[in-house]
Amino acid sequence: MMILAIETSCDETSIAVVQDKIIDDRILSLVTRSQINEHQAYGGVVPELAARAHLSNIEPIMDQAISLAGIPLNAIDAIAVTAGPGLIGGVLVGVMLAKSLSLSLNKPMYAINHLEGHALTARLSHNASYPYLLLLTSGGHCMFVEVLGFRQYVLLGQTLDDAAGECFDKIAKLLNFNFPGGPALEQKAIHGDSKRFIFPKPLEHTLQPNFSFSGLKTAVKQTIEKNIIDEQTACDIAASFQYTVGEIFKERLLKALKYSHHKVERLVMAGGVAANQYLRGQLHSLCAEKAIEAIFPPMNLCTDNAAMIGWAAIEAINNGMLPSTDDFQPKPRWPLEHLSL
Ligand code: KG4
Ligand code: ZN
Repeated sequence: MMILAIETSCDETSIAVVQDKIIDDRILSLVTRSQINEHQAYGGVVPELAARAHLSNIEPIMDQAISLAGIPLNAIDAIAVTAGPGLIGGVLVGVMLAKSLSLSLNKPMYAINHLEGHALTARLSHNASYPYLLLLTSGGHCMFVEVLGFRQYVLLGQTLDDAAGECFDKIAKLLNFNFPGGPALEQKAIHGDSKRFIFPKPLEHTLQPNFSFSGLKTAVKQTIEKNIIDEQTACDIAASFQYTVGEIFKERLLKALKYSHHKVERLVMAGGVAANQYLRGQLHSLCAEKAIEAIFPPMNLCTDNAAMIGWAAIEAINNGMLPSTDDFQPKPRWPLEHLSL
């Protein structure tokens, strides 16, 4: 089974050809173009510019993905497309392409939830077996989910305000780091003293594994306003902030282990923030102490990519799900747990 997958829900235009084969042979091609140049001047993703860039980039990217896969377009068995949640202008660009390909090639189409793509990435990259505990942390979401089986998602806790990635991006912008903020902040933090500034860990004393990042963001903002920001101070703030996020993740993981309905043997980290090597290291050490296997997909599969969308469609097909009808509506909001069967 060979799937052409399309992902356009944020600022990455991504197309992949994915097949249901042994692990090393699954991704026939993956072409992802980030819109760094388009959004750099604004220090954040501008939805209207993102939609336009998807529109002008999507066809050449599709041609490249098909040619890299070395197959004719009509050799694919189905089309998978991110149908939400995300920036609706971009989602529409992907969905329109998917619908027209489905009609012209007469192939079934699967409307895929972007969060499910992230949630199943470790099955694509590592064959992670069910059940596992998932920490999904991206630009728009931060949550602990028990993935008990196919479309059996139990939400254990989530952010009550900002997502972790959003917080990385906003602090990076305040510190005048390059766009995109998350990876830039991680690089600066390498040269910083993580103990120089003490930042709060909101919701530290509650029992549930929820998150809250807006108080942390405000505390960092106040520190930036109160200090003269030379290069070293900027690195120290970055390191102290990243350290605090690591402490929050570890502490919430301990709570999630208590809250989960199964004995956790595997932790999977997914979403753009899971590309952060420092945070991976912190979670890896804690998991080692608890005799839990920690699974981190490769970095290019943590950030937005079409391969995870193709894989989610393969899992849907293998579990007998029917294709989407061509009148389905893209959804700007679409909680993962609503997919549970
Ligand atoms: O999953 P993703 O590519 O898109 C969404 O679904 O949101 O995640 C993007 C987020 C951004 O906030 C970005 O700054 C963050 O992931 N991110 C990182 C790193 N790489 C990407 N945050 C921290 N460290 C990184 N290395
Ligand atoms: Zn994402």
